[in-house]
Amino acid sequence: MNESIDSLMNEVRRFPPSEEFRAESVVDASIYDAAEADRLQFWADRARELHWHEEFTQVLDWQPPHAKWFYDGKINVAYNCLDRHVEAGNGDRVAFHWEGEPGDQRKITYAEMTAEVKRLANVMLGLGIRKGDRVAIYMPMIPESVAAMLACARIGATHTTVFGGFSPQNLRMRVDDADAKLVITVDGFNRKGKVFALKPTVDTALEAEGHNVENVLVVRRGENEIDWNAGRDIWYHEAMADAEPEHVAEGMEAEHPLFILYTSGTTGNPKGILHTSAGYLTQAAYTHRIVFDIKPERDVFWCTADVGWVTGHSYVVYGPMANGVTQVMSEGTFDTPTPHRPWQMIERYGVTVFYTAPTAIRTFMKIGREYPQESDLSSLRVLGTVGEPINPEAWMWYRDVIGGGKTPVVDTWWQTETGAIMISPLAGVTELTPGSAEHVIPGIEIGILNEKGEPVPQGQGGLLTITSPWPGMLRTIWGDDKRYRETYWEKFGDKYFAGDGARIDDNGDIWLLGRVDDVMNVSGHRLSTAEIESSLVAHEATAEAAVVGASDATTGQAVVAFVILKSRFEQTKSVEEAEAILRKHVADDIGAIARPRQVFIVPDLPKTRSGKIMRRLLRDLAEGREVGDTTTLADGSVVKAIQEQMR
Ligand code: PRX
Repeated sequence: MNESIDSLMNEVRRFPPSEEFRAESVVDASIYDAAEADRLQFWADRARELHWHEEFTQVLDWQPPHAKWFYDGKINVAYNCLDRHVEAGNGDRVAFHWEGEPGDQRKITYAEMTAEVKRLANVMLGLGIRKGDRVAIYMPMIPESVAAMLACARIGATHTTVFGGFSPQNLRMRVDDADAKLVITVDGFNRKGKVFALKPTVDTALEAEGHNVENVLVVRRGENEIDWNAGRDIWYHEAMADAEPEHVAEGMEAEHPLFILYTSGTTGNPKGILHTSAGYLTQAAYTHRIVFDIKPERDVFWCTADVGWVTGHSYVVYGPMANGVTQVMSEGTFDTPTPHRPWQMIERYGVTVFYTAPTAIRTFMKIGREYPQESDLSSLRVLGTVGEPINPEAWMWYRDVIGGGKTPVVDTWWQTETGAIMISPLAGVTELTPGSAEHVIPGIEIGILNEKGEPVPQGQGGLLTITSPWPGMLRTIWGDDKRYRETYWEKFGDKYFAGDGARIDDNGDIWLLGRVDDVMNVSGHRLSTAEIESSLVAHEATAEAAVVGASDATTGQAVVAFVILKSRFEQTKSVEEAEAILRKHVADDIGAIARPRQVFIVPDLPKTRSGKIMRRLLRDLAEGREVGDTTTLADGSVVKAIQEQMR
């Protein structure tokens, strides 16, 4: 890792914004000075760019590790994303140009979205949902998913959006942990040319007693046959037709819980990351505007993230909608019905700012530049990436082939926990170096520390920490404040430990070095080695399992599992059968994103004398490298035995 970072850091190419771009940028370099001069005043000014039902007078209450921002004010997040724009005379502005995978199109203005959300708020109130209740949203990329999140925000219900690729068990775990009263879903949706049913997953998830879900609100999209649980299930379109159209948004406390989003940690159980209202919205809107140089009256923004992930929360729903910008949204995948799809959509809607993951860019590279080159992409003026490190080769390809050799490419680093972008260039300000996330966002403060908590000298790698509280920060882990303290704050006291390594070079550019814990990053999605291991061990075939993230040319990292079979199973199944069964098991148990790229059936696992699995060695094996130092192994012959099995 260090070697490759050294060569990356010798990168000499620099790309400043053009003079014309800089001249029209929404901010200039003085924003850094303003933030530094008085950080809290700076954030208060950003918060005042939103609409407040009741003004705040207090900016920050910081009792490490608990922060409250703007906490004596009242705000309605949905009002800020909807009514405010209509009242300012922008109701006719398109909020979403949406395309279904089969090619059906919808155009929804801010006025229409506001009307939809008001009705839906009334539907939810009619179902007995009140401020403080939790609602699970298990939906694909359709406008109703955005409406569902905003309707929750409007009435003060806390949503937990669950990615549509997750299994019934995973959905149930989230429903239980959040204690949701309502689930909003679809019959099915289009993906890779087929209808992918979702409602049956909800039915399975809710089969066993012990949850408090009273209703399931079902949007009709896939038009697939579904079972109907009378008394519990309600068609969205029927409920909406009967609902009152008017709903007046009330101000919520600034710290009112807006959403819980589950993410993988280093143990088997996902953590419910809790975000609250005003601070989160402030940072989402502000970063969206300054990083991407957003001018709502003329930009068309397309963030390709699913609403089931944090990027979909902050840069499809809350940030862009608070800024009142026009967006593009699409159902299904990029390559169905044809690999021309994303480029044709950019041309069709005149997309100006495109934000996606490095994995997608590497996939576009593999498919070939012929596809983007057949569309007119000249409307693009800013490109962004998120979710994983971007290699300079992919960065250059993105700028040259998609951005016509002229657009800034902003590499944005942040996490589910941070709520919004923390480290990133500003499109109209920063001189770019391919592969670097450049600088902290004005108003954010970081430190790169060694294990003892001391700052490392410039140029050296260390642990990334955030040294002062920020408005979009997670407030706790839902129902488990102890885990919150232990995971993020125990290591360095009042500094937030991100779990990533980082390094600052002589130019002051920041380079992210990847996770330093047992968290993998597959296609920009976070997966826990422990979660997949416990899934494997739960299968009757498995005696022991170890999982590592091995580097992968397209997905960044890939899941590779090493499994010792129980002898009974070993005698009845071939190695190939066992591998296939276990790969499928993990996909069924957690979701397709967790399916191991490879499962190796091995006779033993490399362990230290104290019994700890040496994942470093397994990673060497999985990546086909010379195996590193084995002197701490309890049994030195294990590596050889595994290598033989892997051949
Ligand atoms: O390791 C970092 C990586 O993704 C992790 C956060 O994952 P998640 O909470 O799922 O959020 C992803 C989208 C915000 C981080 O700890 N990561 C995210 N962005 C970058 C990145 N690594 C390198 N460069 C990035 N730009």
